[in-house]
Amino acid sequence: MDWGMKNRMSRLIRPDSGKAVWLAVDHGYFLGPVAKLDDPAKTIKPLLPFIDAIMLTRGVLRNCVDASLDIPAILRVSGGNSIAGPALSDEGIQTSVEEALRLNASAVALSIYVGTEHEHQTLMALGALVNEAQRYGMPVLAVTAVGKELEKRDSRYLGLCCRIAAELGAQVVKTYYCEDFEKIVNSCPVPLVIAGGPKLKTELDVLKLAYNAVNEGAKGVDMGRNIWQSDNAVGMVKAIRKIVHEGASVKEASTLLISAKNKK
Ligand code: R5P
Repeated sequence: MDWGMKNRMSRLIRPDSGKAVWLAVDHGYFLGPVAKLDDPAKTIKPLLPFIDAIMLTRGVLRNCVDASLDIPAILRVSGGNSIAGPALSDEGIQTSVEEALRLNASAVALSIYVGTEHEHQTLMALGALVNEAQRYGMPVLAVTAVGKELEKRDSRYLGLCCRIAAELGAQVVKTYYCEDFEKIVNSCPVPLVIAGGPKLKTELDVLKLAYNAVNEGAKGVDMGRNIWQSDNAVGMVKAIRKIVHEGASVKEASTLLISAKNKK
């Protein structure tokens, strides 16, 4: 691996723990003003001290994040779709690698939609993005998107998506945790991080999700709604961090979460 690529990767996955806590706030690129992310600057600011990187679009980076802060950015470069449009999978690259370099991004991210009518276009976009990003030592994060079809989140389907993403050159893959997650990890030769998905019923469910994922081989989380839609978002990110970086149990993390809530 070239020095630049290695250096960027080491900003994303901490060399001391080999793990990562990323905050995903890119949802607006197709969902618009999602609940509790309607004012991105307000949502993001208190969480920044507890994350290793932030995943977002150029618009939110430029307008809602202080440029003097040293926070690695994972820049979402795919888009062109919306929740109101005919097909969520109809996505393409809309932010260039040159723009990512200008913004001092530590990685670029795009979604792939395997098994949909736009499978080919999104996989070709991944290949093209890797070709260009590789030239500049810029890691590519591929997101195995399921759109509205949340039931697709099983190990057979996600294992297929993750392996294809790695084969086509992604340096990191973001997917969902599911039963038999280890099978996905074992058949994917690059690091995996998990998304959280829609808000879970309880805070304990979120901690269990993070715990199970890292204990079954995920390098960490790239989570959104289950952090910032929580009424105790700072407590939640701190608790997740304790699981991911310190190997804490769900019980230990939950104690931290409760004490953060009481301090509020
Ligand atoms: C898709 O909308 C985005 O890539 C999100 O970053 C991703 O789904 C992770 O966010 P969440 O944990 O809310 O699912």
